[in-house]
Amino acid sequence: MPSTLQEPVEAACNTAEMADLLGLRDDVYRRPLETALERLGVGPGWSCVDVGAGGGDVSVALAEVVGSTGRIFAVDNDPAARDAVAQRAAAFAQVFAITQAGEELALPQQVDLAFCRFLLLHVIDPLRVLTKMAQVIRVGGYLVAQEPITSAGRIDASPMAYPDARHPDVGASLPALVRSAGLELIDAWAEAPAGAGPGPVATYLESLTGVDPGDDPIVLPPLVTVVATRR
Ligand SMILES: C[S@@+](CC[C@H](N)C(=O)[O-])C[C@H]1O[C@@H](n2cnc3c(N)ncnc32)[C@H](O)[C@@H]1O
Repeated sequence: MPSTLQEPVEAACNTAEMADLLGLRDDVYRRPLETALERLGVGPGWSCVDVGAGGGDVSVALAEVVGSTGRIFAVDNDPAARDAVAQRAAAFAQVFAITQAGEELALPQQVDLAFCRFLLLHVIDPLRVLTKMAQVIRVGGYLVAQEPITSAGRIDASPMAYPDARHPDVGASLPALVRSAGLELIDAWAEAPAGAGPGPVATYLESLTGVDPGDDPIVLPPLVTVVATRR
């Protein structure tokens, strides 16, 4: 196994290449996203916030589902992400792209769904961000968080390492964190894209590490999904 495969997979999150990489992430992690949205029954007219929206793949997916009567708040603390997200998602729904830290989350209205993916592993205090997200959900509304257990990823049976993430295995704590944020846990599960040889999983890994994994078997980091509600 090439040693460079141990480089941090999330390191490119805030670079100029982010949009391309997020496109690939959407490809390989699209299934967990669809599982979550279907499990919840997100539909036309929903109002949602996507915290740590990045290049906006989740925001766009949500916008497609909620449609022109729905409303998406795409929040990120990096202003570079904002305009690209707004442009892509506005084709489907009313979109408000906001530059704001998740730790200071404040919206002009409460929402039906607060969502984050690949965010909490990067923030200083995941519970603080989840607590702010809980506060913008209407009573009876939902939170969905999708975060990885990065050390459970494997390349040719060797664990992956994400030294740049503050909480690389935050997914494992997610159910408990959501409860600590004052929400009622409805469901939780984990899903991991896997593959061997050419295909989207190998392309994703290569785009992040610069190394072709060849025919080595790959299990990308499992995403833990939690679905919770505000009582
Ligand atoms: C790995 S990217 C994930 C993007 C997107 N959620 C996805 O799943 O494709 C993480 C994003 O979170 C943003 N971010 C990091 N810390 C943040 C914070 N404290 N508040 C808001 N956004 C933050 C970064 O700017 C980046 O766009």
